[in-house]
Amino acid sequence: MDQIKNKQSKNIKFNLKDGQSPDREPIKRMLSQMEGMYLDNVTLNKMLSLGDRVVYEFYDLGMPENSEELAYGTTILYPGKVGDEYFMTKGHFHAKINTAEIYYCIKGKGYLLMENIEGDTELQEMTPGVSVYVPPAFAHRSINISKDEPLISFFAFRADAGHDYKTIESKGFRKLVIEQNGHPTIINNPKWKST
Ligand code: NI
Repeated sequence: MDQIKNKQSKNIKFNLKDGQSPDREPIKRMLSQMEGMYLDNVTLNKMLSLGDRVVYEFYDLGMPENSEELAYGTTILYPGKVGDEYFMTKGHFHAKINTAEIYYCIKGKGYLLMENIEGDTELQEMTPGVSVYVPPAFAHRSINISKDEPLISFFAFRADAGHDYKTIESKGFRKLVIEQNGHPTIINNPKWKST
């Protein structure tokens, strides 16, 4: 199959204050779409009974999915907690698992949590100006530890990498970042499944 390639340069604006692009529609992930992702399902259901809300948004610019192109955009992760657990993205492996990604934090305070199938965990702080390189074969998830600010990052990865959400949806991450005594703390995920 012939793959369509970009033949022209692009100029796409992402606002440094809110991460939004003025002429594109972001994909929104609602709290109701995060069922089963958080440790405290009882609190999640209580929150949902009061109303749904956006947990994060990200841009998919629809780049041609071939190995010569790059997919990029911003992720905007809003502040909040489900019980003691900070708002986070679902997290994913890439479908082509051996592909890397780069994140650059524009605003906010949080972490990028990474882990591979073998169980190696990487946790990097995300503050404005920090870039984090996600190595090939590592699942990755953003976590917002701020009380009032969104965590905004710019990302770029090989355009044909694809997303595998299912593995994390069914197994979870081995580690979680929760608030303990007012501080972010990394713990073992009691709900993590080995198979
Ligand atoms: Ni990714």
